[in-house]
Amino acid sequence: MIPIDNGTTENSTPAQTALVTGGASGIGRSTVRLFLTRGWSVVAADLNESSGRALLDEHPNEVAAGRLAFARADVSSEEDVERAAAQAASLTGHLACVVNNAGIGGAFGRITETSVEDWDYTFAVLSRGVFLGVKHAAKIMQAQGTGGAIVNVASLAALTGDAGPQAYSAAKASVVHMSRVFATELGPHRIRVNCVCPGAIATPLNPSASRGFDGSELARAQPLPFVGEPEHLASAIYFLGSSESSFVTGQYLAVDGGLEAAGPRLGQYLGTDPRYGSLVGVNRGNTGVKSTVHGKATQ
Ligand SMILES: NC(=O)c1ccc[n+]([C@@H]2O[C@H](COP(=O)([O-])OP(=O)(O)OC[C@H]3O[C@@H](n4cnc5c(N)ncnc54)[C@H](O)[C@@H]3O)[C@@H](O)[C@H]2O)c1
Repeated sequence: MIPIDNGTTENSTPAQTALVTGGASGIGRSTVRLFLTRGWSVVAADLNESSGRALLDEHPNEVAAGRLAFARADVSSEEDVERAAAQAASLTGHLACVVNNAGIGGAFGRITETSVEDWDYTFAVLSRGVFLGVKHAAKIMQAQGTGGAIVNVASLAALTGDAGPQAYSAAKASVVHMSRVFATELGPHRIRVNCVCPGAIATPLNPSASRGFDGSELARAQPLPFVGEPEHLASAIYFLGSSESSFVTGQYLAVDGGLEAAGPRLGQYLGTDPRYGSLVGVNRGNTGVKSTVHGKATQ
């Protein structure tokens, strides 16, 4: 029997805190809910104070017990992120997880018409925001000396060229790679860094994902036949943010109903994939052995 090193000491103390940026809406809000359900204390940081108030109103018992707090923070501001991280660390004295989730759609339109200001704003929130979140989480976790987990929220748009606006996609790609490079640096401190890549998730940021799914273009592209919900992301984030994934670091997990796996579906569009035609059999290439074709596929 090999003794298992649990990687970090996450979950080994009863009172531990997660900081969730963009925690007042959508994926972040579902993530806050799940961590609370699992017994964690949570600080939700967000720029939108009225959504933050609504979140607190939804959880009066947890607020009264000191298990849930809101921090008004702009993730593109180092001062704000540092303050939110310190607030989270002081809630229970043990910051075990930081979820860098805050996001916006950012600049859109043709590259020839995209302004530098809009491009920089997009990167300030989506890329610098994650850098700052990892930086201040790492400082606190290193000082605590008990490891920790950082989960960054990227996007399917980080993995393909046409799943989102250009600035958004490029900034999200930086999130995937930051997760790898920071994971290698922070591993010796038992601080794990991973990221999730959501596909189309029904949140206020992506209203088209919530509209009628059946018969939609999305339903045709996505292998799993149902709408992606914020709760699907919350479970994946919880997995990566808790000791359930103690030996996983530097990874991305696509939570996308199979969109990345399906890829560009070239076979379907070019007619070169027999799954979409009417033939079954085996192609033996140039081996000199005859290929076989069994006529019409029966489904
Ligand atoms: N919904 C999707 O289909 C989808 C797909 C891929 C990736 N994502 C990513 O998931 C994350 C969450 O998005 P969502 O769909 O839940 O959106 P959402 O709009 O419901 O929630 C995002 C939250 O981030 C906050 N926020 C925005 N800018 C901020 C800033 N500068 N500082 C602090 N908070 C800020 C907003 O106020 C909001 O509460 C984002 O990073 C987004 O890019 C979403």
